[in-house]
Amino acid sequence: MRLLIIGALDGQIGAASQIVLARGNQVTLAEDVTHGLEILREKGADLVMIDVRRDIKSLIESLVAERIHVPVVACGIASDAAAAVRAIKAGAKEYIPLPPDADLIAAVLEAVTADPGALIYKDPRMGQTMRMAEQVANSDASILITGESGTGKELMARFVHKKSKRANNRFIAVNCAAIPEALLESELFGHEKGAFTGAVARRLGKFEEANGGTLLLDEISEMDIRLQAKLLRVLQEKEVDRVGGNQPVKVDVRIIATSNRNMEEAVAKGTFRDDLYFRLNVVTLALPSLRERPLDIQLLADFFIRKYSEANGIPQKPLSTDSRQILLRHGWRGNVRELENTMHRAVLLASGSEIGPEAVILTGASLSGNQDPLVAQAANAAATALAAAAPRTDMVGKTVAEVERELIIDTLSHCLGNRTHAATILGISIRTLRNKLKQYSDEGVSVPPPAGGDSERAAY
Ligand SMILES: Nc1ncnc2c1ncn2[C@@H]1O[C@H](COP(=O)(O)OP(=O)(O)OP(=O)(O)O)[C@@H](O)[C@H]1O
Ligand SMILES: [Mg+2]
Repeated sequence: MRLLIIGALDGQIGAASQIVLARGNQVTLAEDVTHGLEILREKGADLVMIDVRRDIKSLIESLVAERIHVPVVACGIASDAAAAVRAIKAGAKEYIPLPPDADLIAAVLEAVTADPGALIYKDPRMGQTMRMAEQVANSDASILITGESGTGKELMARFVHKKSKRANNRFIAVNCAAIPEALLESELFGHEKGAFTGAVARRLGKFEEANGGTLLLDEISEMDIRLQAKLLRVLQEKEVDRVGGNQPVKVDVRIIATSNRNMEEAVAKGTFRDDLYFRLNVVTLALPSLRERPLDIQLLADFFIRKYSEANGIPQKPLSTDSRQILLRHGWRGNVRELENTMHRAVLLASGSEIGPEAVILTGASLSGNQDPLVAQAANAAATALAAAAPRTDMVGKTVAEVERELIIDTLSHCLGNRTHAATILGISIRTLRNKLKQYSDEGVSVPPPAGGDSERAAY
């Protein structure tokens, strides 16, 4: 991913950028906000890290005014609480205390752009789709990837890019559903100075950023009909008109679009243009749902067990036969994403020598729609196990702060001291978790030490 650092690269910010670089990311440096904005307009970035001593407020105001959509993270000396508060109030998404902590930086980067791992499969249903993907990867044909939520559409798009002759150029993803409509046009096509109030300079859009490479238009079905017309023109003419521009710019971009909606229905209803649909849909890669590929359920379950055992520094345990049956019968409406979360949880909860049904907590419906007895039994076992694991002393009479402290410390012990995972389970940021732990420790409460596998050096 491409990181832009705004600030002098001296001392601790320099150290932070070294960590980021060592993890295989690209780093660009800007001395001040003005220079940073120039880089964002010309080249873009996936994340901005800014020294709290720079003018964060003016940076965020400019980004809003110029319709540039990029997350901003502030960093500064840990003890300067006032500066941290100012940064967050100004609109920074996170605050990284310095000296830099490798784990914390990794967690922030991960939260912003998840690392795309390998695409794992073995089931013949998936094999068919994969063969087709390999066949068409090298052409410049537009591809439409369809499939239910969590089936791996984005992973597939990255796979196609990696297998294509454009692999050495950029892969840029734009989520059409996540970006407000008013911003999306500028985001995709860029704008000229003066195109709207706030457009103080020319800004290149994602099409130009992706030139020579691949552009993923994620959740294309959510694109507004007016923008669809503009997109169609770009695909036909292979040139973009920046907003407010009158000089089309040639672009060479391979388009991959994804949708988890039925596009033909959207066309029939008139919410999606049929001519654009035919342009995008030169090839369709239809990803089967996870319940349609039982061999993948097993392979991926084992894969995620290995992944999360390693990540947590926990010895790897095999899946029990009962658990395997439960996984095969489940409906997996959230597909691979749901399986991944389930196995992550199972790795943390398993207490015996195997991962038994008590650790496999399913949230969605079973395959048959009716409650499967095996699943019901597992759910009961899981509930009992959870209750046993966390004996609930009566909460009445305690303050909210006390209950919160117990919950945080118990969860952390459960994760063997791993801050990153405890924060995920608790649903709070690592920053918040650390602040709480520091507070408890200052108050004389004993806090579980960081796990062996945790590369943290800091005390909290
Ligand atoms: N075959 C696979 N092998 C390994 N990991 C996978 C596979 N398929 C999906 N995943 C993982 O599952 C998660 C969901 O995948 P992805 O984001 O590509 O799905 P999606 O179809 O784009 O979902 P959504 O419709 O919600 O955007 C990711 O963490 C991804 O790495
Ligand atoms: Mg997706």
